[in-house]
Amino acid sequence: MSGKFITIEGTEGVGKSTNLAFIKDRMLAKGLDVVVTREPGGTPVAEELREILLANREERFDATAELLIVFAARAQHFNNVILPAIEQGSWVLCDRFTDATFAYQGYGRGLSLESIATLENLVQGNIQPDLTFFLDIDVELGLRRANARGKLDRFEQEKSYFFNNVRQGYQQRIKQFPQRFCTIDAGQTLVNVQKDIALALDKFIDSHQ
Ligand code: TMP
Repeated sequence: MSGKFITIEGTEGVGKSTNLAFIKDRMLAKGLDVVVTREPGGTPVAEELREILLANREERFDATAELLIVFAARAQHFNNVILPAIEQGSWVLCDRFTDATFAYQGYGRGLSLESIATLENLVQGNIQPDLTFFLDIDVELGLRRANARGKLDRFEQEKSYFFNNVRQGYQQRIKQFPQRFCTIDAGQTLVNVQKDIALALDKFIDSHQ
């Protein structure tokens, strides 16, 4: 039996961590064997690459270099963690995956979507998430929440113009792959956000168990 691959996406300050924990607990309560992981990161090498990507620095970070490091981390994580877990029958719950690359590096940084698709194919072949939660929030509201958390990383320091492009990028991905995306209005109260997540998650689990 092969497992399932669930991802969670969104712009900054959308409540990803809180809701990731909620999804994980609900999956465990359903008796699933769950592997929780994240991108960029998820293995020691990939976590080192994450630090390189997120650190604030003087040197201008070239967008193509950023893209290649994102995919270097992904290759390490995908082949060492994600793929073996799915093949073993585990359910992988991943905080961000390649939709984030299309949204941030493609629509945010303006890199070629075709090049991203080529790297995607090189690293993960035709494997895609089975279900993707997109937590959607007004960019300004999300940035206010992220700012309230304290010190900002290199991505969080971008302006709302960048994140509006990222959000549009996600919306394009949703149009392209409507069957695997579940959009959640993350501007609601947490209780209502989690009500919506639970409904979609239970439906997905019940139809795949
Ligand atoms: P996080 O704050 O959600 O853990 O993600 C770290 C940052 O990495 C976030 O600002 C988005 C960015 N990112 C990309 O730019 N491209 C990617 O492919 C991924 C997975 C994350």
